Amino acid sequence: MKRILLSMVAVVGGLSAPTAEQSASGSIRNFLQVNTDFCTGGQPRPEAFAALKSNGVRSVLNLRTPGEYREPDERAAAEQAGLKYFNLPVVYTDPRDEQVTEFLRLSDDPANRPMFIHCTAAIRVGAFWLIRRVVRDGWTWDAAIAEARKVGLVNAPHLEEFAKRYVGAQTGSSSGPSASLDYQFFKTRVQPIFVARRPGHARCVACHAAGTPLRLQPLAPGSTTWSEEDSRRNFEAVRRLVVPGSVKSRLLVHPLAEEAGGDFYHNGGKHWSAQDDPEWQTLKAWVLGQTTK
Ligand code: HEC
Repeated sequence: MKRILLSMVAVVGGLSAPTAEQSASGSIRNFLQVNTDFCTGGQPRPEAFAALKSNGVRSVLNLRTPGEYREPDERAAAEQAGLKYFNLPVVYTDPRDEQVTEFLRLSDDPANRPMFIHCTAAIRVGAFWLIRRVVRDGWTWDAAIAEARKVGLVNAPHLEEFAKRYVGAQTGSSSGPSASLDYQFFKTRVQPIFVARRPGHARCVACHAAGTPLRLQPLAPGSTTWSEEDSRRNFEAVRRLVVPGSVKSRLLVHPLAEEAGGDFYHNGGKHWSAQDDPEWQTLKAWVLGQTTK
C-alpha cells in the first residue's frame, strides 16, 4: 500500500516527486501518509478522489462542517470515484467527545481502510489522529504529538487541550468505554417512544415487532408496556443499533429528518423533524449514557 500511495501522490501532484510530502503539497495540502492504512491532509480538489481510489484508498472522512465547503459536491465526487464518504462536522472551536468516539469507530472499521482523513489544513485531523495514536496504538503523548505536528496540528492550543483531556479521561479510568447504555433508562424512558403515536406515522412497534431488521417484542393486545423479560429482549435488539456515546448511532439518525442531521431514508418515515424534539432528546440521552437516578 505504501508504495502505491506514494505513486498516487505523484499522479495527483503531476510531479515526479522526490518525496511524498513535497509532491503532495502540489495537490492535497499537507498530505501525509501516516501508515499503510491512513493518510491525512487538507481539503482535496474533486479530481483527487479518483487518484486516491485508484491507488487503494477505500474511504474518505471529512472533518469539516458543511458550511465550510460544498458538501453535496464533495460527497458526489468521492462517491463517483467509488469511495465511501463520511462527514463528521467538527466545529474548529468546539470539538466534541462524541465526535471522537465516532471518529474512532469509523477508523476502527477495516472495511473503511485505507482511509484518507481531511479537514481544511489538517489541524483538526492532527488533533483527532493524535488521540487515536494514544488510545488505539498505545503511543506516548510525546511521540503522538510530535507526529500530530507533522500531520498539521499547529497553532491550535485549544485542540491540544481537547485531545489531552480526552486521552486523560480514557487512560485515567479503567472503566472502559466512556458511555454505557442503561437498562432502566431504556425501559422507562426509551421504550414508551416505540409505543407513542405521532401524527402521520404508524407507531414504531407497529412495524418493528415483525419483519424488520430491528425486531421488538410484540405487545400483548391492549397493552402499552412490555414485560420485564420482553423489555430485556428489546434492550438487546435496540442496543445493536447504538454505538454508545455516538450521536451518529443508527437509532438516532434513521428516524430523524435528513435536514436535521438524519440519514436520507427510513422505510418507516422520518418521525422527528428537529433534534430539539423531546423524544429525540430522550433517545440521545440514552445513547450518551444517561441513567435513571
Ligand atoms: C411503517 C413501518 C415503520 C415504522 C412506523 C417505523 N419503522 Fe423503522 N424501519 C422500518 C423498515 C421496513 C426498516 C428497514 C428498512 C430501512 O432501513 O429503511 C426500518 C429500519 C429501522 C432502523 C434501522 C434498523 C437496522 O437494523 O438497520 C431503525 C433504527 C428504525 N427503523 C427505527 C425506528 C423507530 C425508532 C421508529 C419509531 C420512531 C420506527 N423505526 C418506525 C419500518 C418502520
